[in-house]
Amino acid sequence: MSPRKIIIDTDPGQDDAVAILLALASPEEIDVLGITAVAGNVPLALTAKNARIVCELAGRTDIPVYAGCDAPLRRRLVTAEHVHGKTGLDGPSLPDPHMALADGHAVDFIIRTLREHPAGKVTLCPLGPLTNIARAFQDAPDIIGRVDEIVLMGGAYFEVGNITPAAEFNIYVDPEAAEIVFRSGASITVMPLDVTHKALVTPERNDAFRAIGTRPAIAVAEMTDFFERFDKEKYGSPGAPLHDPCVTAYLIEPGLFSGRHINVEIETGSDLTLGMTVADWWGVTDRPANAHFMGDLDADGFFALLTKRLAWL
Ligand code: RIB
Ligand code: CA
Repeated sequence: MSPRKIIIDTDPGQDDAVAILLALASPEEIDVLGITAVAGNVPLALTAKNARIVCELAGRTDIPVYAGCDAPLRRRLVTAEHVHGKTGLDGPSLPDPHMALADGHAVDFIIRTLREHPAGKVTLCPLGPLTNIARAFQDAPDIIGRVDEIVLMGGAYFEVGNITPAAEFNIYVDPEAAEIVFRSGASITVMPLDVTHKALVTPERNDAFRAIGTRPAIAVAEMTDFFERFDKEKYGSPGAPLHDPCVTAYLIEPGLFSGRHINVEIETGSDLTLGMTVADWWGVTDRPANAHFMGDLDADGFFALLTKRLAWL
């Protein structure tokens, strides 16, 4: 079977970095057409820089990296340096990138790529706020029907919020963008906190990364050593949740995940619950299903896959 063609839309972010490395380590299953950076964990200048740092770490300077939107559609940017550090990739000491940004805006790359490839042949993998995706859908509605699938990290139901009591960060930063995407009619698979909080990098799992001994694997272990502070302190969890790599792992081994096809709406009005993903997990409304919302993960299988593939870089 030929590899799935994808665009990774991202706000690196240590967990974004691991997701990108897993994708680049899996050429049999994934063909990364390009990476589009969006403002999120840290401002755009840093997410666009970090995406290139990760490509160089993987030895893949052939991957075009585009800078995208530097702020949400209608709101002030909220960032997460308290989680990811001031660079967004705190932990390992990685060199500044030599590779330049690709020419042009990320939104134009998304539109062009979807128009140039046959319909149903390109998957979008958003790992941050949905601003770039929503802007592309606004500027070129014709591309929506050409998207094979959107596999995104964002939202929460049972786990509720990580940036506010009600909202997960990616959705909270740009709720209007999320509403556009979730109401677009595109096929959407969601990796919410309900799943990603089960993908915890315990010390044993991080030791297994480190034991691989390669630069990318050691960098992942060092990223995790830094990134885990926030969740250990807040949730008392045994390690960092690898949020974004759940998206890439799903493309490689979907059987690791289980969930439901349900309705998911986005709160965009209330200040109290802004950015909440109102997921009808129990089917109590007659709102039409618009998303495959994941609820569970085979965590041991996930880490076995990730550890094996990281060794391939
Ligand atoms: O809430 C977790 C998400 O927000 C992850 O994608 C992380 O990288 C941050 O963007
Ligand atoms: Ca992210």
